[in-house]
Amino acid sequence: MSDTLFYMPGRVIAGQDALNHLARAAEFGKKPLLITGKSFARQSGLLARAQKLLADAGVQSVLFDQVEPDPAIPTVQAAANLGRNNNCDLVVGIGGGSAMDVAKAAAVLLRNPSPLNRYFGQEKLDRPAAPIVCVPTTAGTASEVTRYAVIVDPQANAKKTIAAESIIPRLALLDAQLTIALPPDLTAQTGMDAFSHALEAYLSTAGNLLSDAFCLQALQMIAHALPAVLAEAKNINLRHEMLLASTLAGLALNTAGTIINHGMAYTLTIRYGIGHGLANALLLPYTIAYIADDYPKKISRLCRILDCEDIEIGLLDFNQRLNIPTSLSEAAILQDDLPALAQSCHLNCARAMPRMKRRMDLHDYSQILQRAF
Ligand SMILES: [Fe+2]
Repeated sequence: MSDTLFYMPGRVIAGQDALNHLARAAEFGKKPLLITGKSFARQSGLLARAQKLLADAGVQSVLFDQVEPDPAIPTVQAAANLGRNNNCDLVVGIGGGSAMDVAKAAAVLLRNPSPLNRYFGQEKLDRPAAPIVCVPTTAGTASEVTRYAVIVDPQANAKKTIAAESIIPRLALLDAQLTIALPPDLTAQTGMDAFSHALEAYLSTAGNLLSDAFCLQALQMIAHALPAVLAEAKNINLRHEMLLASTLAGLALNTAGTIINHGMAYTLTIRYGIGHGLANALLLPYTIAYIADDYPKKISRLCRILDCEDIEIGLLDFNQRLNIPTSLSEAAILQDDLPALAQSCHLNCARAMPRMKRRMDLHDYSQILQRAF
């Protein structure tokens, strides 16, 4: 019997009008720093609703609404400065992974001295982060329940991760209504981010019986709900299923982490600006097929979930059903770039090696990229 580790997150409230529970944020602090992206929350009326819910609970929030996609360290620092200057003692993140990750990283800086890059890596915080409340508006990142915040370090030109138990949000509100306006391409791409989390965590050597159970449930739900929701965008039950599946995958991620697919996807995002979910989806058939022989039982289980004989074909078919490109060339990547990409993948995947059954070298990444091209 091996040791089992599983992180229990804060409170998750899921269901119709779950956003109305935002008043409960007042349990965790008196002055929330409210963090959103630049447009969706404001334009959709979500921001005004959130501010009113907080005000009705007796707390006046301070707004930072300047989060960009793939947010970088200066954004986190600007948010934290605003929070420090206003004596904020709580951070509320509303949006996709970018807004939530900035919220989590800013919560680190509300309780720990700058610069942020001191805290990249495993459990590097001097003191626990300020309490965090998250409300996702996409079903994919699962940042609302994870112990990770991914932030771009512009100096290193790399995505870096803060991994710390104290940045698991105390409260996550899963309100499917907030995801209903997500356009089809982003629904598919963010959904494939969740699918990648579940699949990579399932194959991670850091996983265990508990995380595997969450992964399998998430994979089954996404295999059903993601193509279905693309055909029926306004179906609230399918949107809810996707949100729950994404959260389940995130819960597994806390224990098992990702393997090489995420490391390779970071490279595509940094070098080409390809969105996180799309980059993961693009590579997934090829990375998983390359290492499939290491996990015969788990791969046959995955084939049953995807109703296929061959995992590469099954994942490619799944991407196709979601209108996701099935090769790097379709995503406008040039063949001449593959050697440099392989180098970068090798570097970015180093931290995933402890969770892999085999060591990967430069040749392995070149092979995967050639096949994906
Ligand atoms: Fe991800």
